[in-house]
Amino acid sequence: MKNMIVMTLGLLLFSGFASAAGDAYIGEHVQTNIRSTDSLRKGAKTYMNYCMGCHSMEWQRYNRVAEDLGLTEDEMMNGLVLTDAKFTDKMTIAMAAEDAETWFGKAPPDLTVIAKARGLDWLYNFLINYYVDPSRPTGWNNLTFENASMPHILWEFQGIRQANFDVHTDAEGNETKTFNSFEQLEPGTMTEQEYKAMVTDLVNFLDYSSEPAQLIRMSLAPWVLLFVVVFTFLAYLLKVNYFRDIH
Ligand code: HEC
Repeated sequence: MKNMIVMTLGLLLFSGFASAAGDAYIGEHVQTNIRSTDSLRKGAKTYMNYCMGCHSMEWQRYNRVAEDLGLTEDEMMNGLVLTDAKFTDKMTIAMAAEDAETWFGKAPPDLTVIAKARGLDWLYNFLINYYVDPSRPTGWNNLTFENASMPHILWEFQGIRQANFDVHTDAEGNETKTFNSFEQLEPGTMTEQEYKAMVTDLVNFLDYSSEPAQLIRMSLAPWVLLFVVVFTFLAYLLKVNYFRDIH
């Protein structure tokens, strides 16, 4: 028994350390709305324009996305899709994984279910927390995903920022850096608010793509609850009826 307690405590402590070590910088919480078709359309547009060059979404098809987002074939294929893909095609890309690895050091992963793997706050913080870092091959670094081999794709919108860190030195002379603030070196074409709104829509689209059935699930929910309430009431009436003669 005592051993079990010690082991459980040990495991708890260990898992605490493990997650502390892997903690990414999450400075802000993102508020998305999967029921906003407008937001999903904007997110899809940003994805097609700026992400699909490198990241496939191969468990999705163009026609499914169009249907879910209320777009016609023409709106989807001529308005959003930049390649000559067919409406019924999977959302794959032409870049071969080996080439990508040679170019970037790491192949850009498929993003169909990235929202499930990383969570919405992680994705949002990743996309808003880039800063210049001349020591990196891409010239960029990221607070949330340190030393990522993906450059800051949306930099024209956000502008160029530098990150200021506080450096602490402990008794043994080890240095640790903690993030202090960003300094805007060059303005972007968007205000900070506009940029964050764009990233929020993009994260919303990634959330949708990771589980398209969410749209149906969410719209069914009120009906399921209504059914439960009505059924409870009917069951109650039945119970009253059954027990009427028993008392
Ligand atoms: C020029 C190619 C390129 C473009 C364009 C690009 N990425 Fe990336 N992306 C990469 C590479 C390379 C990695 C792998 C980074 C690593 O593991 O160090 C990556 C990694 C990621 C990851 C982390 C995946 C994980 O969990 O490891 C996310 C999320 C992501 N990209 C999202 C996006 C989004 C959203 C866009 C569009 C705004 C985008 N990327 C555009 C190259 C690109």
